Amino acid sequence: MVSSASAERTFVLVKPDAVRRRLVSEILGRFERKGLGIDAMALRRMDERLADLHYAEHVAEPFYPALREFMTSGPLVALVLSGSGVVEMVRGLVGATDGRRAVPGTIRGDLACSSRENLVHAADSAETARREIALWFPELT
Ligand code: TYD
Ligand code: MG
Repeated sequence: MVSSASAERTFVLVKPDAVRRRLVSEILGRFERKGLGIDAMALRRMDERLADLHYAEHVAEPFYPALREFMTSGPLVALVLSGSGVVEMVRGLVGATDGRRAVPGTIRGDLACSSRENLVHAADSAETARREIALWFPELT
C-alpha cells in the first residue's frame, strides 16, 4: 500500500517489554497484515525528558514514576502508521490498557497480563497523534 502525505496518521511505540520479549515482529506483523502503511520507524530510547513530554497528561499520576522507569529501561520502536481511520483502528488492535482485561484477539489481550508492561502505546486521538509525531519525528511535520 502506498500512503500519501495527506493520509491519516497515528503514532505508536512498541515498548521496551516487547523488545525484551522478542515480540517486535509479532506486533509489527499485526499492523502490516491489517494493511496499514509505515511512514516512519526507528529503534529509539526514551530519556526522562522525553518521557515527561510524551506522557505530559500523566506526570502527576501516582503510577507515573514507575511508568517512566519502565519506559526508559531499554530500547523501543517508534512508529508512524497511516491509513484511513488509522487512529481508532490501531487503538482497537492494541486493546484495553490492562492486559488482564484486554479482549483476546487484541495485542494486549493475547500477549500481555500487566497494566504497566502492556507492550504498545498508541495515540488516542488525531490531535494526540499530531503532537506525538511532532515530538518523536519532527522531520515529518
Ligand atoms: P493510559 O493513557 O491510561 O493508557 P493507554 O496506554 O491504554 O492509552 O496510560 C498510559 C500508560 O500508563 C499505560 O499504557 C500504562 C501506564 N499505566 C500504569 O502503569 N498504571 C495505570 O494504572 C494506568 C492507568 C496506566
Ligand atoms: Mg493513553
